[in-house]
Amino acid sequence: MQPEKIFVTRRIPEKGLEMLRKEYKVELWPGEMPPTPDELSENVAGAAGILCLLTDKIDAAVMDASGRDLKVISNYAVGYDNIDIPEATRRGIAVGNTPGVLTEATADHTFALLMAAARRVAEGDRQVRAGKWRTWEPMGLLGADIYRAALGLVGFGRIGQAMARRAAGFGMKILFHDPNYQGKDAQPGNAVPSSLGKLLSESDFISIHVPLTDQTRRMFNQETFYKMKAGAILVNTSRGGVVDQSALYDALKSGQLAAAGIDVTDPEPLPMDSPLLTLENLVITPHIASASRATRERMAVMAAENILAGLKSKKLPNYVNPQVYQ
Ligand code: DGY
Repeated sequence: MQPEKIFVTRRIPEKGLEMLRKEYKVELWPGEMPPTPDELSENVAGAAGILCLLTDKIDAAVMDASGRDLKVISNYAVGYDNIDIPEATRRGIAVGNTPGVLTEATADHTFALLMAAARRVAEGDRQVRAGKWRTWEPMGLLGADIYRAALGLVGFGRIGQAMARRAAGFGMKILFHDPNYQGKDAQPGNAVPSSLGKLLSESDFISIHVPLTDQTRRMFNQETFYKMKAGAILVNTSRGGVVDQSALYDALKSGQLAAAGIDVTDPEPLPMDSPLLTLENLVITPHIASASRATRERMAVMAAENILAGLKSKKLPNYVNPQVYQ
């Protein structure tokens, strides 16, 4: 009997691919860019497993194109808003993700953006390279203090909590808002639960750690920005769709927000004519918060483990649609 086919939508660290190749027929998309929807549908034909990225929209059409053998979809990411989960569940297809392994790398990068936005790191770098460093200036590139400032964490899952641990080292006063948070004991970093309104109005820094859902889409909009302290700093490493980008532009331009550090946009990549790119007080990176070598390798192993379990009709080590097992 022919080994089952796994379609992998982009090259991931070799360790994960090797695990799959030992037992199955792996077809790897060769491009550096994601397959188009048509290319995706063409290539998933006959696959029993799809290992995909957050740049691949996996909807009913892709599942249809794959055919009846499709048992498992494994996302090489913790977020899975690119996959139609209800549709996968309806078809009994298990969907896996990679939680936990990218928590610390993502929190590191989030803190880097927070610090870069507060202390105008990217702006300073641009000035030096443009020959604008004339002398030591008493009033040049003044930024915001981080030490002992108030940090509001919107979302207090793994990454929000990892941020709290980092912020504690900076003596920050930490508030968090998360209606789903179940923890009862001492919170990491002595973070204090808060209503969203209080968090918005009292925080010097606000960092977003919620998944993109119908409830969180454009949750940060003109109204939200005007509830924030004037001169607050926003950081977003979750999903671009959580923020209304045109309202973000207005808030940064008017000075309502002093600065922002973002790793995610909607769409990605951000078009070069986006007004956001004209702002000096925006620090932006290209969705790289989890991009440390060790983290990406761990994600590859985890994504492969999910595929292997799914193809053997076992529970995935990390699944997002438990209904398929009921
Ligand atoms: C995720 O995993 O959801 C990140 O956005 C990419 O690592």
